[in-house]
Amino acid sequence: MMESQLAELKASALARIAAAASAAELEVIRVEVAGRKGSQLTELSKGMGKVPPVDKGRIGKLFNETKTAIESALDARQAAFADAALNARLDAEWFDLTVPPPGVRPGALHPITIIQKEIEDLFTSMGFTVLSGPEVETEFNNFDALNIPPDHPARDMQDTFWLEGGHLLRTHTSPVQVRGMQRLGPPLRMIAPGRVFRNEEVDPSHEHTFYQLEGMMVDREVSVAYLIYYMKTLLQGIFKREVTVRLRPGYFPFVEPGFELDIQCLLCGGKGCPVCKQSGWVELLPCGLVHPNVLRLGGIDPEQWNGFAFGLGLTRLAMMRYAIDDIRHLQGGDLRFLRQFA
Ligand code: PHE
Repeated sequence: MMESQLAELKASALARIAAAASAAELEVIRVEVAGRKGSQLTELSKGMGKVPPVDKGRIGKLFNETKTAIESALDARQAAFADAALNARLDAEWFDLTVPPPGVRPGALHPITIIQKEIEDLFTSMGFTVLSGPEVETEFNNFDALNIPPDHPARDMQDTFWLEGGHLLRTHTSPVQVRGMQRLGPPLRMIAPGRVFRNEEVDPSHEHTFYQLEGMMVDREVSVAYLIYYMKTLLQGIFKREVTVRLRPGYFPFVEPGFELDIQCLLCGGKGCPVCKQSGWVELLPCGLVHPNVLRLGGIDPEQWNGFAFGLGLTRLAMMRYAIDDIRHLQGGDLRFLRQFA
């Protein structure tokens, strides 16, 4: 009796387990067949009391085997459902970690920064130190120490943003010459890239804020030949091609003699365009030998030392290099412009 009931239960339970279509259905089967209360197995176990003592051992063992067989079938099927569910999820939810996320772009250097770094590399390889100075300067460092006394007409050459208390927004990077001489003393090889400010009408070739790169070398016997050598090395390093240059006498109170080094406009090839103001030439590199008064005010004895200095227009240079026809793009913050340099 009991034997056949156990065999039947086992067969029907295993068949139902095998046929279960989902984990939820399997759970219903588990409760009905093998649950603690009122399940088919529990009901059958109640019949154990009526089994004759001689058969008890054998039937008890058979009962346990049946129970174990059903439970392990339930467990195996449940594990199969869990596996299948995980596989389905993995299939549905996979993603490729190597695909760049949409809408996120890597940052890029500004064209002026790109050129600045190149020039820094070039000059540091020739033994120059890179210095920086404050954008808010004293009137003394921006003018007086550069041989531009208060009543000197050269003060009007640069339209200055004046601040309170004798301070101003530096109109050029030349005050860093003064700081460099005072801090480092001779012999001295320094460059100083940075932002400068002038109270100017803004147009395609003028901004109130732009970048210069100052350079200064002070040593025992610095001559115009040194100056020309370094300026040529600089321009070849930047343009990596032939550029046509011309040297004109130029007046800056802090150099004597002073020069204007112009390059032929690379945008129009010298034909004339808005950037070169139709002249075919772009003023790029004012330079000269350091005026003795400037050395003296920097704490250097002009009887013992002399030097050259230059003030490269970094903004102009970037415009030439990248054929940018309007200076206002550079500070405009328009990502469509900036992304071209990524
Ligand atoms: N500081 C000058 C200017 O901004 C440029 C310059 C620098 C000229 C060094 C000569 C030597 O106009």
